Amino acid sequence: IRHFLGVEGLSCRQLESIIDKAMGYFDAKGRLINTDELAGCTVMNLFFENSTRTRTTFEAAQKRLGANVLNLDIARSSTNKGETLRDTLWNLQAMSADMFVVRHSASGAAHFMATQVTPNVAIINAGDGWHAHPTQAMLDMLTIYREANKPFHQLSVAIIGDIKHSRVARSDIAALQTLGVADLRVIAPKTLLPKGIERYGVRVFEDIDKGLAGVDVIIGLRIQNERIGSPLLPSTSEYFKMYGITESRVRLANPSALIMHPGPMNRGVEIASAVADGPQSVILKQVNNGIAVRMAVMAMALAGQKASRANLTN
Ligand code: CP
Repeated sequence: IRHFLGVEGLSCRQLESIIDKAMGYFDAKGRLINTDELAGCTVMNLFFENSTRTRTTFEAAQKRLGANVLNLDIARSSTNKGETLRDTLWNLQAMSADMFVVRHSASGAAHFMATQVTPNVAIINAGDGWHAHPTQAMLDMLTIYREANKPFHQLSVAIIGDIKHSRVARSDIAALQTLGVADLRVIAPKTLLPKGIERYGVRVFEDIDKGLAGVDVIIGLRIQNERIGSPLLPSTSEYFKMYGITESRVRLANPSALIMHPGPMNRGVEIASAVADGPQSVILKQVNNGIAVRMAVMAMALAGQKASRANLTN
């Protein structure tokens, strides 16, 4: 890979190689290691949208790889004086950046930036609008790989909640399909489902109890209020009653089912605290796996940059 913009279009082998590479960043005791794969490399983190997990785990990953890390403070940047995304990018590139990690509320922002940088600069998508969150998808895949007691081709996975506005849902569905998951379900009211979702090879359930029956992995999603013009829900308590992931509903799934959530969670809206903090939850393991996956993606992008430069000079 040279840029990492999405998981769509990547092969099963490529996704497996990201998982393999990420696994290599854990020692025998499961602790993250440090390497020098990005030594001498300058990485700039451009978060035009809020983030806790993605931004911090990217920075942790960059430091573990030995990179020089710069975080642009968007709130105090000249973006507020009307400077365009392209001008911001070109000016930062002139400061000898080798890689940009970008989160933006506009779908397609990372793809646009990849068309604007010089060939020796990599763009990593840290989430763009409703469109894609590829490193979240890969940390979810790594978590399933490490924690589930079956391979992908034997797993039944259910994604519950605001599928329509969720970039995580889109990227998870693409990654799970590419890795050959046996059964992929989405569970949501019609108002939170994109039209034509069935064409992505998922089974659609409006009834959460039917949708959870026998699944091995439950991925909860937040209602993306910031991407919805006006509130779609009658009330959060009504939503929790109909679609909340509760202990009694988890009992409908496989007894060893994993409980996952990309965060941030709205407890008592899409998930009960007893489930989020319960014995089947791997939500905080997802966060830790995010560091390894982001190390893998950035190291592979840098290697891809070097390989393409070598091809150009040969
Ligand atoms: N999962 C996720 O993207 O969380 P943040 O918005 O906190 O980065």
